Amino acid sequence: MMDRDSWVSNVGFVLAAVGSAAGLGNIWRFPWLTADNGGSAFLVMYLLLVVGIGVPGLLAELVLGRRGRQTPIGALRALIGSRWGTPLGAFNVITTAVMLSFYSVVGGWILRYTLLSPTGAYFAQPQQYFSHASHGLPAVGFHLLFLTIVAIIVYFGVSRGIERVSKIMLPAVVVLLGGLAVWTATQPNTAVGYAFYLDFDGDYLATHFFDVLGPAAGQALFTLSLGAGAMLTYASYLDEDVSLPRDTLVIAISNTVIGVLAGLVVLPLLFSQGISPGQGGPGALFVALATAFGSLPGGTLVATVFFFTVLLAAVTSGISLLETPVATLVDNYGISRRRATLLMTLVIAVTGSGLALAGPMFRFVSGPVVDVMLTIGLFAFLAIAGWILRDDAVAEFQTGAGRLRGFATPWLLAVSWVLPVVVMFLLTTTLASLAS
Ligand code: PHE
Repeated sequence: MMDRDSWVSNVGFVLAAVGSAAGLGNIWRFPWLTADNGGSAFLVMYLLLVVGIGVPGLLAELVLGRRGRQTPIGALRALIGSRWGTPLGAFNVITTAVMLSFYSVVGGWILRYTLLSPTGAYFAQPQQYFSHASHGLPAVGFHLLFLTIVAIIVYFGVSRGIERVSKIMLPAVVVLLGGLAVWTATQPNTAVGYAFYLDFDGDYLATHFFDVLGPAAGQALFTLSLGAGAMLTYASYLDEDVSLPRDTLVIAISNTVIGVLAGLVVLPLLFSQGISPGQGGPGALFVALATAFGSLPGGTLVATVFFFTVLLAAVTSGISLLETPVATLVDNYGISRRRATLLMTLVIAVTGSGLALAGPMFRFVSGPVVDVMLTIGLFAFLAIAGWILRDDAVAEFQTGAGRLRGFATPWLLAVSWVLPVVVMFLLTTTLASLAS
């Protein structure tokens, strides 16, 4: 095997990992799920699940990556000590490719809206504009443009490409979102939105507990990039002296802050315009929020900053999705990074274009298909960490972290019992909703 690239610093890794985590899931998906599931009730449930299942799950995936020292196929083969590692790892690699196919199409929409916001081109008729822009040839064009940006970064490799770019883009996302949240607070009529989002409604939670549980758990996994093998791949470039539990906490907290900030921008703005969040779905951000921007003073500027921020967040997630298949080709098949990047980019260019052209397929792939693939992937990671590695997994996170007395047993309990049950629950509810 060739010499593998690695992170220059642990801070670089953490920024790249938060970059992977904080993406469309935080800004596009989170506010809408919140709106559709009782606002504050959803927020509380989501926060509990990030701590209860997101954190131990992320630690498990990082443990597999650093211990395996390779991309999913090689890592899982080595860790399980069996050929079964190949189909499992290949499943992860396919998951990232499927995800990037739709992610890049949405990234393309965002790119287009960023470029058009200064002119306010879509303000007059957001709904018609979006239905025209979201599918067909224009969508293909912007998908290819977004994918090219992602590919150029991955082409330069882990330290010279991904780490460098993440160090600039991720802090920019935080600062811009923070600025937007402050601006939002100065707008009139936002009180209803804040109340909906932040005033805890215990009655709602009590009566809708199970309705809220499913989406909140799904979001906790999706937003932390769990189950795709992307975090595993990033962790494979880490040194032994880094504390994985500490990094896990920093990643989970930073990602949550970014999600909560996004909610503080999106929800009050919508409520201030009298737009009720209603149904989510792919067009939510582009139609309802675009309507809000259209009627606010300084709307063109705010819209531009907003979509630019989403674009940066989407790029730093997209690169982790492309890095996984690219690095797999490099690790397992001895293909150079240049060629591997070119090859995978061509594949995603085609699959993404297919999705951009085929409307109904798009919803299906970006929703249930991805949810199912991520839950299966995570289930396999948990089984390997909690059942096959067990003490070795504990030893791996103690390396660079110290003994962490009292932590090993609850973590093992979480990854071998609690999380698999939650993940299976998620899988059955998703499949059941598909069948109905
Ligand atoms: N966490 C990313 C987001 O919230 C999505 C993602 C999932 C990225 C899995 C990589 C792997 O947008």
